[in-house]
Amino acid sequence: MLAKEIFREFKEHSVSEFFRKNAAMLGYTGKIRSLTTIVHEGVTNGIDAAEEAGILPSILVAIKQIGPEHYRVVIEDNASGIPKKFVPQVFGKMLAGTKLHRNVQNRGQQGIGVSGATMFAQITSGKPTKVLTSVGDGEITQMEIMIDVNKNVGKVIGSKRLKEEWRGTRVEFEVKEVNYQRSRYGPFNYLRMTAIANPHVRITFVEPDGTLTIFERATEKMPKRPRPIPPHPWGIRSDDLLSLAKTSKAHTIANFLATELSRVSKKKMGQIERLSGVDLRKSPREMTWEDAERIVSAFKRMKFMSPPTKGLCPIGAKNIERGMSQILNPEFVYAVTRPPKVYRGGIPFIVEAGIAYGGDAGKQGENSEGLEIIRFANRAPLIFDQGGCVMTSAARDVDWRRYGVNPNVTPVTLFLNIISTHVPYTSAGKQSVADEPEVYEEVRSAIMDVARELRRFLNRKIRRREQMKRAGIFERYLPIIAKRAANLAETDEPDVGPLLEKVTGVDFDPEE
Ligand SMILES: Nc1ncnc2c1ncn2[C@@H]1O[C@H](COP(=O)(O)OP(=O)(O)OP(=O)(O)O)[C@@H](O)[C@H]1O
Ligand SMILES: [Mg+2]
Repeated sequence: MLAKEIFREFKEHSVSEFFRKNAAMLGYTGKIRSLTTIVHEGVTNGIDAAEEAGILPSILVAIKQIGPEHYRVVIEDNASGIPKKFVPQVFGKMLAGTKLHRNVQNRGQQGIGVSGATMFAQITSGKPTKVLTSVGDGEITQMEIMIDVNKNVGKVIGSKRLKEEWRGTRVEFEVKEVNYQRSRYGPFNYLRMTAIANPHVRITFVEPDGTLTIFERATEKMPKRPRPIPPHPWGIRSDDLLSLAKTSKAHTIANFLATELSRVSKKKMGQIERLSGVDLRKSPREMTWEDAERIVSAFKRMKFMSPPTKGLCPIGAKNIERGMSQILNPEFVYAVTRPPKVYRGGIPFIVEAGIAYGGDAGKQGENSEGLEIIRFANRAPLIFDQGGCVMTSAARDVDWRRYGVNPNVTPVTLFLNIISTHVPYTSAGKQSVADEPEVYEEVRSAIMDVARELRRFLNRKIRRREQMKRAGIFERYLPIIAKRAANLAETDEPDVGPLLEKVTGVDFDPEE
C-alpha cells in the first residue's frame, strides 16, 4: 500500500476512546476486581469530598444482583454535593476534576476514576449512570449520564429536579460481566481495609444477599486537612516547569520560580541565571522548552532545602492502632508514623506501618491464615497487583522468623501506608507503588520498627505462658506438700500464697 492510502485511515482518538478499549488499565480486569474497582472509585471520591468540606464522612455501599453477572452498585456519601453544571463533567469526562493540578495529598489524583466507572458500566450494560446530588440548597439534581466517547464529554440522558432537603451524592452504576464474592479481592475486604485506615469514616455495606455490615467510626475527630505543596526544584521536569509557566500570573520568570516552586528564594536567582544562562526578567509565558531544560538542569547543580512536608497528613500511629483494634480485635497492636522523606530528590512522602496480632488479624477473606499484608496509598486500600508493589517487596524481604513470625501460620496483619502529594503509582489503575529506592528503604524501616515491638510482645507472651505452666505445677503440689508437712510437724497449715508468688512470679491473689 502507498502511504497515501495508509494515511487515509489516519484518525484522532479521544482519551475516553482509548480507555474504552483499554479499560484494564483502569483496573477493569476480571469479574471480581471490576466490581471492587467501581466501589473503590465511588468510595474514594465520597471520602475525599467529605473531608474537603470538613464533614465526617458517612458512606453507604449497596450491591444488588439483578441477574447472572449483572449487578447494581449504589454508592452514597454525605459530602458537599456537586453543583448541577459539573455533574456531566464529573461522571462523563475523563481527565477532568479538581485534584489533578493541585499538588495536594488526596485519594484521587487523576480525574479519571469515576468517569472510568461510568465508562465500564456503559460498555458492559449499555446503561447510563444515575446520579442524585445536592449541595444542600433544598434542591436535588437527578441526572443520567453517558460518555460520548468520540468527544470525551458527558451526555445527559435525563435530568430532573426534586425539591427536598438533603446534602450529598448518590451514584448508581448498572454493570454486567462482574461477580460478587467475599474474597480478599472483593468489595467486602476493600471496605474493611478502608475502615482500618480511616477510623473517622463510617461505612454501611449491604451485600447482594442482604447482609448488612456497619464499620463504625473509631474516632469522631476529623483528620487534619492536607495542604498544597508546590513542586520542589529537584522533583520537577522541564515539561512540568514549562506548563506551569504558561499559566502563571507572574510578570517575570524570577517571580514565577519564587512563588510557584518551593524552596526557591529570591537570593537564588543570580545563581540560576548564571548556571542556566536564561534571562529571568522575561515573562514566564515566553519561556521556551530550551529555557525550561536549562533551568531544570541548573536546579540539579544547586543546593536547596528539602521540600516542606507540613502539607502532608499521615493517619498517625494512635489512629492506626484505633482503626486496627476496632476492625480486627487483636491481642496486640502497634503502629508507627515515620518522619517525612523525599524521593526523586523533590517529592515528599511519609511511610506508616502498623502490626496486629491475634483476634481477626491475618484473616483477609475466607480460609486464609498467616501474615496478611494490607497496603494503602493516601489512606486508600490497594488490593490488586500486589506483586509489583514496593510495599510487598519490602515486606517479603524482611526475615520474619527473626521477629517470631511464621508467615504461613502466625495470625498477623501488617498495615502499610504511603502518604504523598504524588504517589508514584505504576499505572493508571493505582494499585501498586513503584520501586523508588527511598520509598523502599522507608517501608523497610517502618516494618522493622513495628516487627520489633511485635517480637517483644511475643517474647513476653511465651515467657508468661512458661510462667503459668510452672505456676500450675507449684499451685497443684505446694498446698499438698504444705499440708503433709504441717501434719508431720503437728503445726497449723502455713499460707502458701506468698511462697507461690515468690517462686513463680505470678500473683496468686485469692480474690481472683
Ligand atoms: N462524590 C463526590 N462529591 C463531590 N465531588 C465529587 C464526587 N465525586 C467526584 N467529584 C469531583 O469530580 C472530580 C472527578 O472525579 P474522578 O474520580 O473522575 O477523579 P479524581 O477523584 O479527581 O481522581 P482519580 O482519577 O484519581 O479518582 C473530582 O476531582 C471531584 O472534584
Ligand atoms: Mg476519584
